[in-house]
Amino acid sequence: MEFQNLLIEHKGRIQYIIINRESKLNALNKITIAELHTAFYAAFNDLNVGGIIITGAGQKAFVAGADIAEFAELDGEGGADLARNGQTTVFDMIENGSKPVIAAINGFALGGGLELAMACHIRVAAETAKMGLPEVTLGLIPGYGGTQRLTQLIGKGRAMEMIMTADMITAAEAHQYGLVNHVVSQESLMTKAEEILNKILLRAPLAIAAAITAVNSGLKDGVNGFDVEIEEFSKCFQTKDLKEGISAFLQ
Ligand code: COA
Repeated sequence: MEFQNLLIEHKGRIQYIIINRESKLNALNKITIAELHTAFYAAFNDLNVGGIIITGAGQKAFVAGADIAEFAELDGEGGADLARNGQTTVFDMIENGSKPVIAAINGFALGGGLELAMACHIRVAAETAKMGLPEVTLGLIPGYGGTQRLTQLIGKGRAMEMIMTADMITAAEAHQYGLVNHVVSQESLMTKAEEILNKILLRAPLAIAAAITAVNSGLKDGVNGFDVEIEEFSKCFQTKDLKEGISAFLQ
C-alpha cells in the first residue's frame, strides 16, 4: 500500500508505521489522519501482522501536533468535525485495536502527537524527546482525546498543570509521571520497542486482544470493567491457545 505521508515497513510479524512529513515535523494534516486510519485498519486485519510500532521520520519529531495551518479556516462546527473524525477513525481505533501498538517517541510529541502516543498501548521515548499539550497557547484545548487520556495516565493534578501551562516536559519527567513506560538513548529506541513487542508476540494473541479490551473497559463511561473482564476471561476458554497453553504447562 502506497501512502503520501506514511512509510510502512515489516520485520517478521512487526509492522512499522512511520509518519513521514519531516519538513513539517510530521504534523498531522487531514491526509495523514486519513492515511493513519487506512494503515491501522489494514494492519489490524492482516493475519501476518502481530503488532505495530509507530514512530516519526527523522530524529527531531515524533509528531509536532495537528497541522495548525488547517485550523485557520475552521468554525465551531468544523472544529467539532475535525476532533470527532480524528478521535473515532484513528485515536480510539488504535486504543481499542486487537493488536498491541507501541509508540516509539523519537523527538517532539506535542499536541496531537502526544495524543497519538497516548492512544497507543505502550510508550517508549528517546531521552531527547520532549512532550506537551501546547494547545492553550493557540487558544484551543486538546481535541484528539488528550484531556481524557493524559488524566488517565498521569492523574488530574499533573494533567491540569501540563494542559494549562502548556509546558513541555522532558522524557525523564514523562517517565517519572508514568506517561512513558521506558526512556532509552535515541540509538536504542527501536531495539527497546522491538524487544517489548517481540515478547508480547510470544504470548497468545487472543489473550492479548482480550487483555486490551478488558483494561480499556475500566476507563469507559457506563461500562463495568469487572463484568467485561469476566466475559473476556470466559471467551479465552473457548480458544485453542488456552488449551495448548494449559496442556504445555501441565506437561
Ligand atoms: N503544524 C503545522 N506545521 C508545523 C507544526 C504544526 N503543528 N509544527 C511544526 N510545523 C512546521 C513549521 O511551521 C515549520 O515549517 P516551515 O519550515 O515550512 O516554516 C517546520 O514544521 C519546522 O518547524 P519550526 O517551528 O521551524 O522548528 P523549530 O525547531 O523552530 O521548533 C517546535 C520546533 C516543535 C517547538 C515548533 O515547531 C512548534 O512549536 N510547533 C507547534 C507545536 C504545537 O503547538 N502543536 C500543537 C498543535 S495543536
